[in-house]
Amino acid sequence: MDMLEPDLRKEEREWADYTNCPIVPGIKPGFPRNCMKVYLNGQWVEEQDARISFDDRGFLFGDGVYEVVHIYSHRFFEWNRHMVRLRRSLKAIDLPGIDLEAIGRAGEQLLESFDGQEGALYLEITRGAHPRSHPFPSADVLPTILMWIRPIAPLDPQWIEKGVSVITVADDRWAKVWIKTICLLPNVLAKEKAHKMGMFDAIFVRDGMVTESTSANVFIIYQGRLQTAPVSNYILPGITREVILEIAHENGIPVVLEPFSVDDMLNASEVFLTGTTTEVLPVTQVNGQVIGQEAGAVSRLLLRELKKRANTVS
Ligand code: PDD
Repeated sequence: MDMLEPDLRKEEREWADYTNCPIVPGIKPGFPRNCMKVYLNGQWVEEQDARISFDDRGFLFGDGVYEVVHIYSHRFFEWNRHMVRLRRSLKAIDLPGIDLEAIGRAGEQLLESFDGQEGALYLEITRGAHPRSHPFPSADVLPTILMWIRPIAPLDPQWIEKGVSVITVADDRWAKVWIKTICLLPNVLAKEKAHKMGMFDAIFVRDGMVTESTSANVFIIYQGRLQTAPVSNYILPGITREVILEIAHENGIPVVLEPFSVDDMLNASEVFLTGTTTEVLPVTQVNGQVIGQEAGAVSRLLLRELKKRANTVS
């Protein structure tokens, strides 16, 4: 059965012609993709030839973890920190035996064949393919390892300059949010809710305290200090968050690692999101309440310093 709208098919064909890529149903025309080889279980395959079993536990159970690494100036940014977090996630889901050095080498090869300066590497590891059954499969079932690099669309300069609007939503995720699991349904639902309301993102709130957003950490400038939630099982310890805290330290910006409430956020002089693809993104409206008219001085400084570091440090 033809699942695609006739117009979309036409557009997809045009896009496919333009990029010289085969049509991949379901990928929107214009979505950044560069038709390159992907890494799948030790093999290099054309993206349209990459096949994953419907028995894959990532597909059936969300039984896997992932990382996203930003590429600036054709170099991975903070690769080692991402690998440290990945190791922690793998340990947390009890998935041993992954050779992170081999993944590093494969990542470098992917990077060599990537012709852009800026992009993102996506890496996913699942517990492999086995007929559906909840307990872990036997040790001879190999994990699925998938990795690719795609260019990323730059953030809209208007967002960076004027800030974005967000809503708050109840953080009803599980209590092991620190694991970078592929089970992102609550995040997806919250993001979609925000988008349906014309907002950029949703910020999770647990017991009255801000945890993080659907795909970024949250910072505020409150009473003259930079504040973000401390690392706990209720937030993902963001790599960008860590880097921003270091930059703040280097620039003599006082930092408070304590939970803050929605009221604190509403009364903050600046609010911003940090993440691998979000970088430092100012928030100027929360639930319709205006925080500021444009990016604040601290967010601007931190973004500038982040970019400087990213484009000079490997
Ligand atoms: N998201 N919190 C959540 C829930 C995230 O998904 C992310 C990253 C972050 C920021 O972490 P980092 O600075 O390491 O990117 C915080 C990635 C980019 C994603 O899912 O696409």
